[in-house]
Amino acid sequence: AIWPRGARVWIPDSVQVWRAAELTRDYKEGDAVLHLRLEDGSTLVYPLESQLPPLCNPECLSGKDDLVALSYLHEPAVLHSLRVRFLEANAIYTYCGIILVAINPYKPLPIYEEEVIYAYSGREMGDMDPHIFALAEEAYKQMVRFGKNQSLIISGESGAGKTASAKYAMRYFTTVGGCLGDSSMEEKVLASSPVMEAFGNAKTTRNDNSSRFGKYIEIGFSQARVTGATIKTYLLEKSRVTFQAGAERNYHIFYQLCASAALPELQGLGLRGAETFHYTRQGRCAAGMDDAADLDNTRHAFNLLGTVLVGHGWGTPWGRAHSARPHRDPHPGGAGDTSVPLQPADEALRWFCKLLGIEEVQVTRWLCHRKLMTAGETYLKPLSRQQALDSRDALAKHMYGQVFRWMASRVNRALRSPEGHHTSIGILDIYGFEMFEFNSFEQFCINYANEKLQQLFNLHVFKLEQEEYVTEEIPWVFVDFCDNQPCIELIDGRLGILDLLNEECKVGTSDGSWAQKLYQTHLGSSHFQKPKRPMDAFIVCHFAGKVEYQCSGFVEKNRDTIPEELVGLLRASKVRASPVGAGRGGSSGPRLPGRPSRRSLPGSQRSKKSISSQVQDGGAPNPALSQGTPQALLLALTTSPLCSAVQSLPEPADGDAGQHHAALRPLHQTQRREAALCVSAVGAPWDPLPAMSLLPCMPWCTPG
Ligand SMILES: Nc1ncnc2c1ncn2[C@@H]1O[C@H](COP(=O)(O)OP(=O)(O)OP(=O)(O)O)[C@@H](O)[C@H]1O
Ligand SMILES: [Mg+2]
Repeated sequence: AIWPRGARVWIPDSVQVWRAAELTRDYKEGDAVLHLRLEDGSTLVYPLESQLPPLCNPECLSGKDDLVALSYLHEPAVLHSLRVRFLEANAIYTYCGIILVAINPYKPLPIYEEEVIYAYSGREMGDMDPHIFALAEEAYKQMVRFGKNQSLIISGESGAGKTASAKYAMRYFTTVGGCLGDSSMEEKVLASSPVMEAFGNAKTTRNDNSSRFGKYIEIGFSQARVTGATIKTYLLEKSRVTFQAGAERNYHIFYQLCASAALPELQGLGLRGAETFHYTRQGRCAAGMDDAADLDNTRHAFNLLGTVLVGHGWGTPWGRAHSARPHRDPHPGGAGDTSVPLQPADEALRWFCKLLGIEEVQVTRWLCHRKLMTAGETYLKPLSRQQALDSRDALAKHMYGQVFRWMASRVNRALRSPEGHHTSIGILDIYGFEMFEFNSFEQFCINYANEKLQQLFNLHVFKLEQEEYVTEEIPWVFVDFCDNQPCIELIDGRLGILDLLNEECKVGTSDGSWAQKLYQTHLGSSHFQKPKRPMDAFIVCHFAGKVEYQCSGFVEKNRDTIPEELVGLLRASKVRASPVGAGRGGSSGPRLPGRPSRRSLPGSQRSKKSISSQVQDGGAPNPALSQGTPQALLLALTTSPLCSAVQSLPEPADGDAGQHHAALRPLHQTQRREAALCVSAVGAPWDPLPAMSLLPCMPWCTPG
């Protein structure tokens, strides 16, 4: 017999995913069925098709704190082991070699106190229970001992606990590292999280505090002490500013402000409940969180960063612009309605203009018309209602994007260390793999980044580890693993999906013609499929599952342009940022020395870098904006971005093609680092999907 009676196997189950069963008869090669008894005592004749079911590990091995100790390391074995640890020992952490697998307990556990940090400090990874602190300690120790930079790479689907893990690691470093020089630097490093989250996190159907941007924070050290930090941000989901799906929300900061509308310092802004603004009420989402208290936290964090969140000058055009209502359409009409939605008496228009310091007539003109140039003459072409609404949304998204960038640059300035640093530890917390009913450009970028991240895991877990065995002359049979390079090539290779998209952005605006080119070029690829439904869509077979993307909107979103007329509108704003050291009262301060005017740019579309350039530029201090004072971070935030950020729009790209490759900078960067430790977070226990998405990180090996 190949498998004797009594051997235990895992069989797939539609409800429990896998169920353990015992052979009631010997199995011999060529048998068509297995005779099994399930754990509930029922019997089953299991037909053998192409493959034998995976074997169970001896029970004594389940519960081991390193999955590598398992005799059989396959999907059911991993799930079972994690389950046993979680349910029987309340253990949320398990190692798999250099990877730490974390299960989100969705409840506070008493394992993150300062005593626990000190208990892990100075200890070896194997001496203690698996923990995010153990991984952080390992990185810290390697850095201190060998002077090598380190990275913690955190991956997992939305809601799995990536951001929470990143924050525990940051707390570990600031606690054991202490600070050199500025004694409040550790507080500032930690305060960066609530600030970034207020502006870049939102409630989604998966997570009440979902990061809608990627973040790479590099903590600098000298003599093993924290000296400062730098944050890079990637691909903020700007579309959320103007649209939220059901049960989702816009960025937290909007609700925090609306919930605090009664505060004396927020008077004069026309703030009201979030349910009254189109941009904050589309998800029809009951709060479920204390937004007013959260604003206090945000303000406290700003204070720690040496900044006033709310003060004079909170006369914030952006707050108004994003929540206010050129959209409160005074002329609702059908699709054929070509009238523009703005009337001079519109209340929202008045507020917008007042806060932005701009004339109503200009706003009405440029939100509702485009400039047309023909041989020497310029015309004003009225926009249709839909075009005007798109125009309004483009303006709102652009403004928020600038505010976010600008805020990140200010946070960076507060975290900058005057003396620099010798070594660093980076923590990468990007958005996890996403798959919704409707997947658009944002999901495509997110999943592409995750595909690259997966490749990095593969590199460390399989290639490098096995190469080390060979170098050390350890007898070893190479484990084959699923290399996702072909999928990456489909996306970013020559004539890949991105290449064709960038091409389409140059020549036309049609999502449909791009879709046709995709089909012509890639239908033969094993990772590409065309859905049966008669619509422009494509399927990519990612490492974590097949995702169908709807082509509509890709070209426009990738181009990420804003009409020149709208940029001009913002430039006309009389609101100016506060000058260096001006503190409060910035709205009347002198004009910032921005970049030379680019009014002469040809064409009616402001040529900007495509969306991926946000990745490239993320976190870099903006030269024009960095003239403000750190003390006035928010003060200036409220007044300057609209005007000075616009003055300092990024230079046009040197050609669009291939820009998306920049989206992977952080990953390449971490690859270049000396060592990388990985955390893989898992979502709700025993929901099959999250666990499955973790599996491709695991060695698919069955010894023997
Ligand atoms: N170790 C933990 N202990 C207790 N609660 C946790 C832990 N990890 C995560 N959580 C809870 O789960 C929630 C979601 O976690 P988190 O925001 O870190 O997910 P994420 O992986 O960053 O998701 P996204 O990709 O949507 O940003 C947290 O707000 C927190 O309430
Ligand atoms: Mg997150």
